[in-house]
Amino acid sequence: MIQFLFNGMPIKVEKCSPNRTTLDWLRTKKGKTGTKEGCATGDCGACTILVGEEVEHSGGKSVWQYKTMNSCLMLLGNVHGKHILTIEAVTTNIHAGLADLHPVQQAMVECHGSQCGFCTPGIIMSLLGLYINHKSYPGKKTVIEALGGNLCRCTGYQPILKAAEKAFEYERIAEPWSAMACRFSQQLIDETNKGKIPHLQDGERAFYIPQSAADVVALKAKHTTATFVAGATDFAIELNQQLRQPQTIISVSQVAEFISFTETASEFQIGAAVPYKEFTESLCQHYPEATELFERLGSMQVRNAGTLGGSLGNASPIGDPAPLLIALNAQMNLQSSQGTRVIDVEDFFIGYRKTSLKENEVISKIIIPKRSESLKLACHKISKRFEDDISTVCLILAVDHRNNVITSARCAFGGMAATPARAHKIEQQLLGGKINATTFIKAGEVVERDFSPLTDVRATADYRLAVSKNLLKRIGIEFSQASIARFSLATTTVPEAPSPISTRIRHASL
Ligand SMILES: Cc1cc2nc3c(=O)[nH]c(=O)nc-3n(C[C@H](O)[C@H](O)[C@H](O)COP(=O)(O)OP(=O)(O)OC[C@H]3O[C@@H](n4cnc5c(N)ncnc54)[C@H](O)[C@@H]3O)c2cc1C
Ligand code: FES
Ligand code: FES
Repeated sequence: MIQFLFNGMPIKVEKCSPNRTTLDWLRTKKGKTGTKEGCATGDCGACTILVGEEVEHSGGKSVWQYKTMNSCLMLLGNVHGKHILTIEAVTTNIHAGLADLHPVQQAMVECHGSQCGFCTPGIIMSLLGLYINHKSYPGKKTVIEALGGNLCRCTGYQPILKAAEKAFEYERIAEPWSAMACRFSQQLIDETNKGKIPHLQDGERAFYIPQSAADVVALKAKHTTATFVAGATDFAIELNQQLRQPQTIISVSQVAEFISFTETASEFQIGAAVPYKEFTESLCQHYPEATELFERLGSMQVRNAGTLGGSLGNASPIGDPAPLLIALNAQMNLQSSQGTRVIDVEDFFIGYRKTSLKENEVISKIIIPKRSESLKLACHKISKRFEDDISTVCLILAVDHRNNVITSARCAFGGMAATPARAHKIEQQLLGGKINATTFIKAGEVVERDFSPLTDVRATADYRLAVSKNLLKRIGIEFSQASIARFSLATTTVPEAPSPISTRIRHASL
């Protein structure tokens, strides 16, 4: 049995297909059709809901945090222990003289933010998430980040952006839902203490939500063909589009060891099931060059659910995290009932969507070393659309140097081969070279010796090769400009360093 809160009401579900999405459950089992289905692939945001979870519990008090997610990608089993809020709950318990509308709804009315209205429930939920998580208007950049996963085909975004600002101008409404959730969490703890693994059953088919790593490996030893799932942002697409019907699913999304994140003096230890939104801020404080890569990974809804373990487990040649992890020489822990095996992320991919994960193993942790002071990092994602789009080419380059001469280079690409892969020839060409444009242009010239990319719907092979060369040239210019700037500041009294070239790439314009 799983238990959760649905718009403040405690719910228990025992018999249910392991493949059922939350959107499907809402619309067909609960008759709550306010949440819409536009694409069933996480691309339109019409199905956006808020998912609350307890982030702290001490002395009988708990703190709940609400995040937007795509209900079309969220498997019902994964809502165990959580609080799901749908559009139907938004006007409940609201008393602020605003015609029973929540400020985000009232603002959408006043700013003319809706026409056909199909996208509107999802947009309201994204705006509600923004409203709950910010006490005052957080600025346009944050609003765009919150709405990046919501498509509207007829209103145009300007009125919606205006509504996002206006909602904060009305008298503020207290968020009523976490108080309900606090009462529920106490009941849930009591139930969990009975020592059963929460699960859904449908005849022979089952969905398990183990809470410990020991339970995960024990379940996998028993159900050898079981499929793992974490945030399901990749997996649910296989269910929705390819109608995959696995017999047994083991969700790792609530395993205590897999959802922990630790930063030590020398490394980041990221549990395989920690959603992107939970660790990227800390990681990008240390590696600011990776900020844009993560900001452009899917949408807010996708980043609130998707995980590193899922990205590596999916083994897509165009997943963005793998080239970064390879360039930074990250390692991963693979756990089984026999113990834990540690391998370099680079060695994990052995063929198109094939990995070295054994049948009884699960990815438990990813370890990213911290940088040396002299490390230079460049991260570039080329995609057809800036927000919420998969890479055509992703290039990550990490070089170390002494006295401006390159002493080590790790260069990894996505989108250039059947797997995310290192460019060994480019690396060799860079070694011993000076950090200037010429070195990197020459390195770009050997890209054909590393890769023979495919032509597909995203780009031709020629385009991929040309864009890779141009990116290396760009990196050479940027790295050498940064060195000149640093040298000038250290040795002269020049008041301002030369402005660096913008690191933002809009569309595939190179
Ligand atoms: C709209 C949309 C946009 C996207 N945009 C991007 C993008 O810009 N860049 C990008 O890189 N990706 C993108 N993705 C893909 C996806 O979000 C990521 O790959 C994400 O990291 C997958 O994580 P997850 O937890 O959701 O994986 P899941 O879907 O839960 O799992 C994916 C696969 O990994 C396996 N798996 C999961 N956890 C483990 C584990 N611990 N051990 C072993 N196997 C495991 C599962 O069996 C499954 O085969 C996008 C997806 C969507 C829907
Ligand atoms: S239905 Fe389009 S994102 Fe879910
Ligand atoms: S109002 Fe019609 S799609 Fe947004």
